[in-house]
Amino acid sequence: MKYDFTVNGKAVSVSLDNEDTPLLNVLRNELGLMGTRFGCGLEQCGCCMVLIDGAPEKCCAKPISAIAGKAVTTIEGIGSSARPHPLQQAFIDEQAGQCGYCLAGILIAAKALLDKNPKPTRKEIALALDGNICRCGSHNRIMRAVEKAAAVMRKGVSA
Ligand code: FES
Ligand code: FES
Repeated sequence: MKYDFTVNGKAVSVSLDNEDTPLLNVLRNELGLMGTRFGCGLEQCGCCMVLIDGAPEKCCAKPISAIAGKAVTTIEGIGSSARPHPLQQAFIDEQAGQCGYCLAGILIAAKALLDKNPKPTRKEIALALDGNICRCGSHNRIMRAVEKAAAVMRKGVSA
């Protein structure tokens, strides 16, 4: 069966025998997008988070049949080493991570928050990242980085 959708603004089409194949497997194994990580595989840890039609969603158990016609954004779609998103730059500046395994999912959740709410409170940031586990305990630096990125983005908009 063929499934058509977009990933990072590009139309893609994949043929799969199993309609229950998780989107995460398709991104990594069929499309070569390795930025989205596999952690628990049980929709518990958040490290597989992507945007689906702009909403942050865990994709390790999301069947490909539910993605047809939708717009998926992965960590590769929000910025690059050459042109980092303000969130990515702030995470680098604040060294907001230790092993980094959780960060793709956290950056996606943070982007979804800032897209809707450019001036979140600490509590709102904590709530937005509630579905993302960081086993290294880098939460304070992560929160600081999100606040910093929000401030940079607000400045950019008002400039
Ligand atoms: S790998 Fe998807 S939530 Fe943990
Ligand atoms: S930085 Fe290691 S899990 Fe978050």
